[in-house]
Amino acid sequence: MNITNQKIIAITGASSGIGKAMAVCFSRQGHRVYGLSRSSVESDFTSMSVDITNAEAVKNAIASIVEKESKIDVLINNAGMGMVGAVEDTKAEEIQKLFNLNLVGAVQVMSAVLPFMREQRSGKIINISSIGSEMGLPFRGFYSASKAALDKVTEAVRYEVRPWNVQICALHLGDVKTDIAQNRVRSEVSAPYREVFNKVYALMNSHVDSGDSPEAVARYVERLLSKPEWRSHYYFGKFGQKIGVPLKWLLPQKIYEKLMRKYNHID
Ligand SMILES: NC(=O)c1ccc[n+]([C@@H]2O[C@H](COP(=O)([O-])OP(=O)(O)OC[C@H]3O[C@@H](n4cnc5c(N)ncnc54)[C@H](OP(=O)(O)O)[C@@H]3O)[C@@H](O)[C@H]2O)c1
Repeated sequence: MNITNQKIIAITGASSGIGKAMAVCFSRQGHRVYGLSRSSVESDFTSMSVDITNAEAVKNAIASIVEKESKIDVLINNAGMGMVGAVEDTKAEEIQKLFNLNLVGAVQVMSAVLPFMREQRSGKIINISSIGSEMGLPFRGFYSASKAALDKVTEAVRYEVRPWNVQICALHLGDVKTDIAQNRVRSEVSAPYREVFNKVYALMNSHVDSGDSPEAVARYVERLLSKPEWRSHYYFGKFGQKIGVPLKWLLPQKIYEKLMRKYNHID
């Protein structure tokens, strides 16, 4: 992409981490970028204060972008949060809060841009998912499930919007060095799980600390946006994390689960 092909790009969760890196990267390339997050930030792009779990606020924000720019080319549905804890201990309200953001919020933004993209008969939407949506991660079961739910919606909506030339994909990320660990919802862990949880928790935080940079994700997304035809799923991350996806189907389950336990320091 370059300035000769200026795009109107909306990015959710642009106040920090991956969303901010993408927003800065694309606006510096000359694109017109709108970042939607609850907190607005001073930066090279236009920051809009929007809670994506509020359908009305999302609709108004997207409509105001289109009113100003007369179109919207790209949505990067990036806002999301993590959650850790044992499945048994997790409360219904915690699960609802997570799904309300990672699934319902993301779908609301998609639904707000689709009427405009259908009308203009073009548009691209990237739903930011996780490599962890492809497997039930220990002590992150509901995070895996929330992203897996978004993946399935992504697969379904691709069929529905194809007649209008709107392309949609899920981008599964491995660990990226952001504030995601600090921003995670952490449910109370009961005594029977505590010792193993503490080991797994320390390990998952160290993986984030040694993860790829948000700028590297932005560069990957830049290349993705320049592709004319999209597959439904793309994977970005370290080889050791990406390989877990095919191994789940290729290896006998006993061996795969043993590897997962070893990788997660559970054994
Ligand atoms: N970092 C990783 O290792 C990793 C790996 C796989 C997938 N991902 C995914 O990548 C995406 C970005 O994560 P990140 O690592 O950049 O985390 P982050 O630094 O915690 O950023 C999360 C962003 O989401 C926004 N957000 C949260 N709740 C919101 C709401 N209700 N309405 C609007 N915006 C909201 C936050 O802004 P405000 O608080 O200002 O609203 C923030 O800008 C997430 O979907 C995450 O699941 C991350």
